[in-house]
Amino acid sequence: MSSVWGNKVKISIFGESHGEGIGVVLDGAPAGLRLDMDELLLNMGRRAPGKDKAATPRKEADVPNIVSGVLNGVTTGAPICCFIENTNTRSKDYGNLLSKPRPGHADYTGYVRYRGFNDIRGGGHFSGRLTAPLVFAGSVCRQALRKRGVEIASHIYSVGDIKDEPFNPVSIDGELIKRLNKRSFPLINEDIEDDMRSHIERARLDRDSVGGIIECCAAGIEPGLGGPMFSGAESLISSVMFGVPAVKGIEFGAGFDITRMYGSQSNDPFEYIDGRVMTSSNNNGGILGGITSGMPILFRVAIKPTPSISKEQNTVDLQSGENTTLEIQGRHDPCIVARAAVVIESALAIALINL
Ligand SMILES: Cc1cc2nc3c(=O)[nH]c(=O)nc-3n(C[C@H](O)[C@H](O)[C@H](O)COP(=O)(O)O)c2cc1C
Repeated sequence: MSSVWGNKVKISIFGESHGEGIGVVLDGAPAGLRLDMDELLLNMGRRAPGKDKAATPRKEADVPNIVSGVLNGVTTGAPICCFIENTNTRSKDYGNLLSKPRPGHADYTGYVRYRGFNDIRGGGHFSGRLTAPLVFAGSVCRQALRKRGVEIASHIYSVGDIKDEPFNPVSIDGELIKRLNKRSFPLINEDIEDDMRSHIERARLDRDSVGGIIECCAAGIEPGLGGPMFSGAESLISSVMFGVPAVKGIEFGAGFDITRMYGSQSNDPFEYIDGRVMTSSNNNGGILGGITSGMPILFRVAIKPTPSISKEQNTVDLQSGENTTLEIQGRHDPCIVARAAVVIESALAIALINL
C-alpha cells in the first residue's frame, strides 16, 4: 500500500481508522510560512464528524499534533509531520465485516488485494477518516497559495435532485469565497438548505444514504501553469481527486454538457480586460491544453452515496462460501457530501501547489 502523492510538494498519508492514529508528512513545503492555526482548525472542523446533524454521530476531536517542520508557528522548510489521534473507535461494530464484505465499500477488494492482512476495522486505511490528514496538508498548501493570490472555495452543487446555484464561471466573488469557506454545509443559495437536509434525513430514516456533487473553484490562478498530456493541470487535479474516497467522477468547466454545444458556443472567446487576456465564458474550466488560462479553475466532482447503510443488503460470506445478507451496525453519515467539500478544496490546493 502506498499513499504518497506529489512531485514538488509530496504528501504521505498514514494510519487506519481504528488504529492509534492517522497523519500526514508534507515534504517540500515552503519555509517561512506563518501558519494561521485558527483557519487550519476551522477547515479540520468542517470535515470532522459529529459536528453537523446530517453527518455521522461518531465524534472525533481531530486535533492535529504538529510533530515536526514548524517552529514558533512558522514552517521551517523541513518535512511537516502531523499526527491525529483516534479517540473514538468502536471496532466491535465491524466484527462480521471480516467475512461479510460491505457492498460498495473496499472490504472485498482490499481483502483480495492484501490477502486478508489489511486492517478492516472502520475501513482501515480505506476509511474516509484518512481525509483528515489530507485536509491538514491541503490547508497548509492553501495558505501558501494565498500568498500568491490564489483562493479556493466549494459548495454543495447538488444532493439527489436538489440543486444549488452554480458559481459564476468567469468571476468568483471574493465575499462569496469567504462565506463558503466558513460553512460546514456550504451553499450559494442558502434557501435550499432545508430541502437538502430533509432529503438526507429521509434517507437516514429509511436506513439508506444519498450522494451528490461538489462544485469547486480556484480564483487568482496565473496563466501558463501545467503542460500537455499527462502532466497537465486536469491530470494532476483529477489524480488527487480520485485519492479521495467516494469520488466517482470529475468534470471541468461545462463538463459533459459541452458535448451538446456547437463549437461556436463551447469556445471561450478571448478579450482584453484592463490589459489582461480573459475569456467571456469559461466552458473549459480555466484549462486549455492542460495549461491554466488565467480564468478561474472550475470543476465538479461526483460523490457517491455512503456505502455503509443499515438497510439489509445482499453480500457473500467469504468464510463459508455462501450467499448471505448484511445489516451494517456502526455510525455512518447518511450523506458525506457536506463533509467532503473541504476535502475537495484541500485536494485542489495540493494539486495546485504542485503546479
Ligand atoms: C469525508 C468522508 C467520510 C466518509 N465516511 C464514510 C462513512 O461513514 N461510511 C462509509 O461507508 N463510507 C464513508 N466514506 C466513503 C468510503 O471511505 C469509500 O466509499 C470507500 O473507501 C470505498 O472507496 P470508493 O468509494 O472510492 O470506491 C467517506 C468518505 C469521505 C470522503
